[in-house]
Amino acid sequence: MKSLQINQSKGLKGEIHIPGDKSTSHRAVMIGSLAGGRTKIDNFLPSADCLATVDCFRKLGIEINLNGNQVEVFGKGLRGLKPSRETLDVGNSGTTIRLISGILAGQNFKTIITGDKSIQRRPMARIVKPLRSMGASIEGRRLNNEIFAPLKISGGDLKPINYELPVASAQVKSAILLAGLFAEGETVVIEKNPSRDHTERMLSHFGAKIQGTRIRGNREFSGADIDMPGDLSSASFLMAAALLVSDSLLLIREVGVNPTRTGIIDILHRMGANFEVKDERMISEEPRAEILVRSSKLRAVKISGEIVPRIIDEIPIIAVAATQAEGLTEIRGARELRVKESDRIATISSELKKMGADIQELEDGMFIVGPTKLKGTTVKSFGDHRIAMAMAIAGLIADGETVIEDTECIETSFPGFEAILRETSI
Ligand code: S3P
Repeated sequence: MKSLQINQSKGLKGEIHIPGDKSTSHRAVMIGSLAGGRTKIDNFLPSADCLATVDCFRKLGIEINLNGNQVEVFGKGLRGLKPSRETLDVGNSGTTIRLISGILAGQNFKTIITGDKSIQRRPMARIVKPLRSMGASIEGRRLNNEIFAPLKISGGDLKPINYELPVASAQVKSAILLAGLFAEGETVVIEKNPSRDHTERMLSHFGAKIQGTRIRGNREFSGADIDMPGDLSSASFLMAAALLVSDSLLLIREVGVNPTRTGIIDILHRMGANFEVKDERMISEEPRAEILVRSSKLRAVKISGEIVPRIIDEIPIIAVAATQAEGLTEIRGARELRVKESDRIATISSELKKMGADIQELEDGMFIVGPTKLKGTTVKSFGDHRIAMAMAIAGLIADGETVIEDTECIETSFPGFEAILRETSI
């Protein structure tokens, strides 16, 4: 088992590029596979999760050339996928299993899809229910009103639906929109609070018939060239590091700043963070910008409601920042964290507590009182990449050495994380 040793940092300095966005990299391979002809993806994220998506589409008969962070996908149109002889394995990737399920719902052949232990514990009823109502046949492991992978999926000509999301989830929304490509007529998804809209933007970039979250099915579209922005969720670990460690000045270049993802920027501003987001421009229908971060004194913040889906992946690192902020930080309405790669309310609370943080676990969030001096010790990742990286950033401000156990998982979203930390630390 790999572990990561982190010592207190004296400052982070320099100019960095963050690897490509995980959410858009998955979608580019998926949509490129359903397009007619060649799609060229630049700045693709070659992380374990996105490579699992590539592997699944290769098994479904799509030719995909991978060359570092450049990818070519030779799409075969909406009806071009072939049955896979093997079970599809998504590894740790929730985005892969939930989004592909929407595509498999539109295929007139059967596919079995599964993933690692964490994936087999994550709720799938949220996609199974709407996809069944579109006419797909999906069976999974049933337990206490929930459905878990492995999933057996077959479908074909689907019926369009009008579906109001019971939980704010871009994965569920995207599964339905992708299934909507195979339905005659208009499929509509209604969401109370906006979740990331990369699927909508990318389908539009490829020329599919989509407006907002309304999609018209049975319309072919063509392959396209597309360039991935840097992943803001990955950048947020470095942003927090530069804010928390004194004498830091870090320029993070070409970061995606899609407004459905920028809750972290809003929250850090509300905490009094000193940083600039500049030179915003639109590339492949996604905005990107340069982010310049300086060490800052932070204050506590109250988080709940509409912003939660916009910071859902950043809450572990916000919890770390809150341990250094003056006052009581309250995070509520974030029960979804309990069904991520780990139960993130439990895992971030227990591990930060080991380092001396004043943190109380709530059913749907946390109370964190700061500032507290953190002490280096041995902590666990629970196989969850975002817990591993959040704890590494906590280690940069703790006295002594922090050891994070079980850090292979960082590869699922941020290959090169350790190297970037070492390069920027002075
Ligand atoms: C993602 C959506 C979010 C997020 C995940 C990526 C996506 O999940 O947590 O890391 O790419 O659509 P939910 O849809 O479950 O909120």
